[in-house]
Amino acid sequence: MEQGATGHAPVLLGEVLEALAVRVDGRYLDATLGRGGHAAAILERLGEEGKLLAVDRDPEAIRAGERRFVGDHRVSIVRGNFAAVGDIAREAGFGAGFDGALVDLGVSSPQLDDATRGFSFLRDGPLDMRMDPDSGESAADWLARASEDDITRVLRDYGEERHARRIARAIVRARAEAPIDTTARLAALIATAMPGRPEPGKHPATRSFQAIRIHVNQELAALDAVLEQLVELLRPGGRLCVISFHSLEDRRVKRFIRRHSEVAEPWRGLPEIPVHARPRLHRVGKAIRAGDAEVAANPRARSAVLRVAEKVAA
Ligand SMILES: C[S@@+](CC[C@H](N)C(=O)[O-])C[C@H]1O[C@@H](n2cnc3c(N)ncnc32)[C@H](O)[C@@H]1O
Repeated sequence: MEQGATGHAPVLLGEVLEALAVRVDGRYLDATLGRGGHAAAILERLGEEGKLLAVDRDPEAIRAGERRFVGDHRVSIVRGNFAAVGDIAREAGFGAGFDGALVDLGVSSPQLDDATRGFSFLRDGPLDMRMDPDSGESAADWLARASEDDITRVLRDYGEERHARRIARAIVRARAEAPIDTTARLAALIATAMPGRPEPGKHPATRSFQAIRIHVNQELAALDAVLEQLVELLRPGGRLCVISFHSLEDRRVKRFIRRHSEVAEPWRGLPEIPVHARPRLHRVGKAIRAGDAEVAANPRARSAVLRVAEKVAA
C-alpha cells in the first residue's frame, strides 16, 4: 500500500489482519497507532460491540488519530508509552484483556519526514529524535553530556556500528567547538569520521542515527516491557502480532516468543508440569516478510518482520 493521504502506509497489513483473525465483538489493542492504518483496518472488521484501544507516545499521532476516528465510539485513543500498557489498559477500561494485540515498532513516515522532529539525516532540523517531545532528553542534550565511552557503547550496541569509537571521538572533539544541535551537523560529522568509502546506497550516518534514536527513546526496554505485560493481558486464544524493523528488535521478539512457548527449566521432559512452568504462548508460523510488490510500493516494508504468537488457554 502506498503512503496515501495519511502519510504512512501500514506494512504487512493483510498478514496482520489474517494473523489477528478479528472477531466482530472482540477487544483489540493497537499499541502503536501511528497514522492509524492498521487501526482503521481492524475497525472495519469489528462490529458495533467490538472495541479498540489505540496507544501512541507521539502527540502528533494522537491528534491525527482523534481526527481520523472522530465519532467512532468503539475506539479509545490514549497518549502514553506502551511500556506502561498494563496501567493504560486498566485506566481505559480494558482491564479484562485483549483478543488480539499489534505492536508495529519503530518510527512512522510522518515522524521521519518532519524535519523539526530531528529523526532524519536527510533533512536538516533540530537534533531531537524524541517520539514524545515532552519526556526524556533530546539527542542533542544527550550528545552534549555523554562520555565518549557511553556514545561508543550506544553506537555499537544499538547501531551495530563498526566505527563506533571513531565516531564517538569525533563527536566529543566537535562539541568542544560548537554544540551538535542539528541533524545536518551530526550527519556531516559522522560522514567525515568514517574511514574508507561509504557503503553503496547507504548514508554513512544510517547506523548511528538508528542507535541514537533507540537510546533516546529507550526503545528496547519499552519493547521488553510491553511484551511481558501482553502475555498477561491477552485472553486465551488471543493473538499477538509484532512487527520489527531491525535485527535487535526481531531477535528480542523471537527469543521472547520462544521463552514463553517452551516448558520452563527444570521441568522440561518431566511427565507432570506445574502450572507456573507451562507455556503461556504458542508460536504461530514463522517470521513473515513483505512480498516484492509491497516492498516495491513501500520501501519501508523491506526490513519489516512480523512474528505472531497465540495465548494458550490456562
Ligand atoms: C511504525 S509506526 C506505526 C504505524 C501504524 N501501525 C499505522 O498503520 O499508521 C510506530 C509508531 O509507534 C509509536 N511508538 C514507538 N514506540 C512507542 C512506545 N514505546 N509507546 C507508544 N508508542 C510508541 C511511534 O510514535 C509511531 O507513531
